[in-house]
Amino acid sequence: MESNEVRKKFLKFFEKRGHKIIPSSSLVPENDPSVFFTTAGMQQFKPYYTGEKDAEEDFGTKNVVTVQKCVRTSDIEEVGDDTHLTFFEMLGSFSFGGYWKKEAIKYAHEFMTKELGLEIDFVSVFRDDESGIPADEESREIWKTIDPGLKIKEHKKEDNFWGPTGEEGPCGPTTEIYINGVEIWNIVFNEFYKTKEGEYKPLKTKGIDTGMGLERLLVQVQRKKNIYQTDLYNNEKNEKERIIADHVKASVFMISDGVTPSNTGRGYILRRLIRRAMVFSKNSLEDQINMVKKIYKGTYILEDRGEIAKEEEKFKQVIATGAAVVNKIVWDTLEELGKKLANIHQELGINFELSIELLQKKGIKFTEQEIIDIKKIFDENFKKHQDLSRVSSMGMFKGGLVNHNEKTIKHHTAHHLLLAGLQAVLGNGVKQRGSNITEERLRMDFLCGHKLTDDEKKKVEDWVNEKIKAGLDVTRRELPKHLAEKMGAEMEFGAKYPDTVSVYFIGPLNKEHDAVSKEFCGGPHVSNTKELGSFKILKEEAVSFGVRRIKAILR
Ligand code: ALA
Repeated sequence: MESNEVRKKFLKFFEKRGHKIIPSSSLVPENDPSVFFTTAGMQQFKPYYTGEKDAEEDFGTKNVVTVQKCVRTSDIEEVGDDTHLTFFEMLGSFSFGGYWKKEAIKYAHEFMTKELGLEIDFVSVFRDDESGIPADEESREIWKTIDPGLKIKEHKKEDNFWGPTGEEGPCGPTTEIYINGVEIWNIVFNEFYKTKEGEYKPLKTKGIDTGMGLERLLVQVQRKKNIYQTDLYNNEKNEKERIIADHVKASVFMISDGVTPSNTGRGYILRRLIRRAMVFSKNSLEDQINMVKKIYKGTYILEDRGEIAKEEEKFKQVIATGAAVVNKIVWDTLEELGKKLANIHQELGINFELSIELLQKKGIKFTEQEIIDIKKIFDENFKKHQDLSRVSSMGMFKGGLVNHNEKTIKHHTAHHLLLAGLQAVLGNGVKQRGSNITEERLRMDFLCGHKLTDDEKKKVEDWVNEKIKAGLDVTRRELPKHLAEKMGAEMEFGAKYPDTVSVYFIGPLNKEHDAVSKEFCGGPHVSNTKELGSFKILKEEAVSFGVRRIKAILR
């Protein structure tokens, strides 16, 4: 039975039992800022559980069924084994206050054993634990009645409780169906609304939310050993091929739903997937892209708009820059090499494996033990880099602020204005990538794909000088991290921040007159921009591909 037939069978089965067939929603969730991607079938239906929307009004019934496109990056390290993917389709049936446990379990059992003729290994039900949520005796009794010989296991909250997606939302205990030792179908009894504060409140509309990974199901239906042998893949044999196939597929689907590679948010996740695929691949990804389109022809409309090829070009240049640096490294001890490779990873994004490969290509030989030793040093130093970013964000020192004399502090405030000015003139895609501030001058590295024109430089300068003249107050606030993020405060790339952060605002703090600059920063700063004098850009130049550098002064 081919994938297409399984999708159809599932939809028809539930349609016959009073469910309306609803199309998959986009991988980019609408009106749900809590997550980057659609990770489950229930996501497009959240408002029907919370009571914000009424299913009967919108669908003419309380029950619906879907085949939903999903992306989950939480398991990315597991991709390459027999069962984990970043992109998958989820077969899901839902009820918003229509039916409850008895019907949900009966339908699942019937579909599995009668419709597909599969044998259930065992099922699991929720048992009470430290969480205080009571054991699900009802489901246990229902399973016993439906299938007296069936093995029933009891699992705690960490295994048999689902949700919420994001920080808050509907959630509840589950009962799960296992075949050949693999979890195949998750039947969720949404009873609670978990608040941001971690409280479980009774849900307005109790409901059913079931989800079954199509690829895993196909392994059983088509009697295969792993997902890559099903008709949704091309029988990839080794781990590298599997990772490439998964990542390219996820990328094509994301792009088809409107995502483009970038350095923030979902665009950054897409970029990482494409680059990760490239690191594992020796060839262009074009054949893989065509394969994905062929497999899903007639099921989904897929269009990658040449974005993957563009990204491949960009990454090649990043690698070329990195390779030039790696090729020039000299070292006396393996420890020194490990440290240098960690620096290169931090600054240029060239990972350990790639660096080692480059060195090997140059003819340098390492034993397996040597590679392990270098990796150990690399990991220690890489961690140190991350810790340093954290320390700097806590305000003990700001990247490159070498002393706290008056002129340096002024340059520091001007540095914030410069970032905001670059964004005002060139767009919000401008992100800071490095900074160094002394009493003589300020320096900023930032993401930008082109050399600034004289006109652009002038506009940035004018923008900053205008804000200086306006005499704007500079204010520091301690804020919960999530709030600061929500306000759109600039943060340092790759830094880990504590739950409470210090944010510097330049300009008014009320709603109508928004601050002109918001940055995660420990200070120190001047208290009003009029103290700064006049701002002048001295130089604008390239640092590496896509990264520009500005040197500027205050006079
Ligand atoms: N929402 C449930 C899941 O994703 C069904 O597993």
